[in-house]
Amino acid sequence: LASIRVDVAEVTPGTQITVLWQGKPVFIRARTEEEIAAAREVPVEELVDATANNANLLDDVPATDENRALPNPEGSELPEGTWLVQMGVCTHLGCVPLGESGDFGGWFCPCHGSHYDTSGRIRRGPAPRNLPVPVAAFVDATTIQLG
Ligand code: FES
Repeated sequence: LASIRVDVAEVTPGTQITVLWQGKPVFIRARTEEEIAAAREVPVEELVDATANNANLLDDVPATDENRALPNPEGSELPEGTWLVQMGVCTHLGCVPLGESGDFGGWFCPCHGSHYDTSGRIRRGPAPRNLPVPVAAFVDATTIQLG
């Protein structure tokens, strides 16, 4: 798979960018402490899709926020869990969800009304799975490599 590198120096907590990778949108969000806390207080048993859907981890790991967030780069002063990288492709029929929307403060897919939380996990609506987390890693303090 072709990989790309994305400069996230300008992405500050509470903002996100969308980049195209392999012809699909990828959302890279720096979450606020409130967004991280909201994601981490949800019991996994309440989730529609209880698996993390994170290509960096084994298939069946639980959908805790810790298992979906991208580890911080070394030396980062931001809270652990700040970074969330996921495919911007609704797991229902593939529309692009809107950020900072929906009933759970995360993403909302307007096509048929799927609500994702601040960890990108499906919480209500027809989508069956959490937004996929692609292979991703920081390669330096401000650069994320996808793939
Ligand atoms: Fe997103 Fe149907 S494609 S809800």
